[in-house]
Amino acid sequence: MTTDLWWKHGTIYQIYPRSFHDGNGDGIGDIEGIRSKLDYLSWLGIDAIWISPIFQSPMADFGYDISDYQAVDPIFGGLDDVDRLLAEAHGRGIKVLLDLVPNHTSDRHRWFLESRSGRGSARRDWYMWRDPAPGGGPPNNWLSVFGGSAWTLDPASGQYYYHAFLPEQPDLNWRNRDVREAMHATMRFWLDRGVDGFRVDVIWHLIKDDLFRDNPVNHHYKPGQSPYARLNPEYSSDRPEVHEVIAEMRAVLDGYPDARLLIGEIYLPVERLMTYYGADLGGVHLPFNFQLLQTAWNAPAIAALIRDYEDALPQNGWPNWVLGNHDTSRIATRVGPAQARIAAMLLLTLRGTPTLYYGDEIGMADVSIPADRTQDPVGRRIPGLGLGRDPERTPMRWNDGPGAGFTTAEPWLPIGPDTAIINVAAQERDPHSMLSLHRRLLQVRREQPALRTGAWRLAHCGARSLTYERYEASQRILVALNLGAEPVDAATVPGAGGRILVSTHLDREGEVVKDTVALRADEGIVIG
Ligand code: GLC
Ligand code: CA
Repeated sequence: MTTDLWWKHGTIYQIYPRSFHDGNGDGIGDIEGIRSKLDYLSWLGIDAIWISPIFQSPMADFGYDISDYQAVDPIFGGLDDVDRLLAEAHGRGIKVLLDLVPNHTSDRHRWFLESRSGRGSARRDWYMWRDPAPGGGPPNNWLSVFGGSAWTLDPASGQYYYHAFLPEQPDLNWRNRDVREAMHATMRFWLDRGVDGFRVDVIWHLIKDDLFRDNPVNHHYKPGQSPYARLNPEYSSDRPEVHEVIAEMRAVLDGYPDARLLIGEIYLPVERLMTYYGADLGGVHLPFNFQLLQTAWNAPAIAALIRDYEDALPQNGWPNWVLGNHDTSRIATRVGPAQARIAAMLLLTLRGTPTLYYGDEIGMADVSIPADRTQDPVGRRIPGLGLGRDPERTPMRWNDGPGAGFTTAEPWLPIGPDTAIINVAAQERDPHSMLSLHRRLLQVRREQPALRTGAWRLAHCGARSLTYERYEASQRILVALNLGAEPVDAATVPGAGGRILVSTHLDREGEVVKDTVALRADEGIVIG
């Protein structure tokens, strides 16, 4: 297995297309907007973009409810725009990953309309239809991730259909061979156009228990958690048969040259996550590793999770790390702006492929959304728990002008405060900015083989600081992170002294380090 595949040494940048850049002035980001910012992305130094869904959709879940997998939604543009984006991204050496949403369609997809047309429909079995429970009511106790029962009654046929998310997102029946083939055809449609791979939405949900057994009660449920957590989704997700489905998807990709990439969105404990690499590594190349999204932010917790993850990896399984996405509160909000710099250094110096969420490179924080501007259906269906995802989906800030350079119209979500400092134009000029830090870290990562592909080893973990090594052949890089707001002396390892390649404060480059290194509050350094 070679280590120089593009997706092993590259950095992925996630674009939420509604919020990246608005090319036609309607207040919503689009494909032309992304194309017009490719120079920025190559200047930043990323290697691939993953674009959240751009396909035809009624937008009940902002594109995660697809009504035609092979058409672009007019909000975002057309197929021509995708072709042009692919050509221009590839011209700059940037790969393009699309979001594949195979678990469910929109309820307006013609497949579902046909399926719902009657019990005898040729596509009835493409979705999951069940009779009511013997005493009436939903067929079993399965819950929707987005609140309420996962079953909705279709009065015309008297049967219920299953939806892991919104009622507008009916789940496909992946036990049906024709469903599989239709989705493989969709994959080929995009791969033939030159797409470099897919991030597959909720891949661990694809297969459900064939007996539709009730899910057991979760005795660890705490009030304040999502109501979905009341049950353990043992029978509605992470079923053994899912791996065969994934292996078939992988085989579709393997039929293409140039190392196309398959990433799986999987929220599971580490031991379960690892099974998604597949037998003989024929599963997804990268099962998204979301631990940094969920961890307590302190040195011992982070050291333990890195070690456990490294230890759990199967042989030749390539690691990956995620710090933010469109479903989670932003890192600058979770840990504060100063520690967000430490987080960036961590993300970009760990072993494995990093995924960077748009806007995190300029330190964007969650934006609180007034109730009358709420867009996310989750925020509306489960109010009061802070589960709405609009705060982390607000427009990218390109400058401090009106509309933050994102749009000339009223933006679909508010821009938010702090635009004078938190914008690309201001930070490009500032050698100490969060953006300059990201660019420098990406540069160092590219230049140092030990950071790109070297092994990882914990050097020292204190109560407040964490030091680790990355090494390959004779090269050794040391990363020392202060996880707190007090200065701390971090031990290096014998013989690992050297010069500072980058500090989170961007002011100590070239300084010589011997046996210990004094870290200022919230400071991290890379020594090479
Ligand atoms: C994934 C997506 C999320 C979406 C859900 C349903 O978790 O990341 O945004 O709402 O799937 O498709
Ligand atoms: Ca637009």
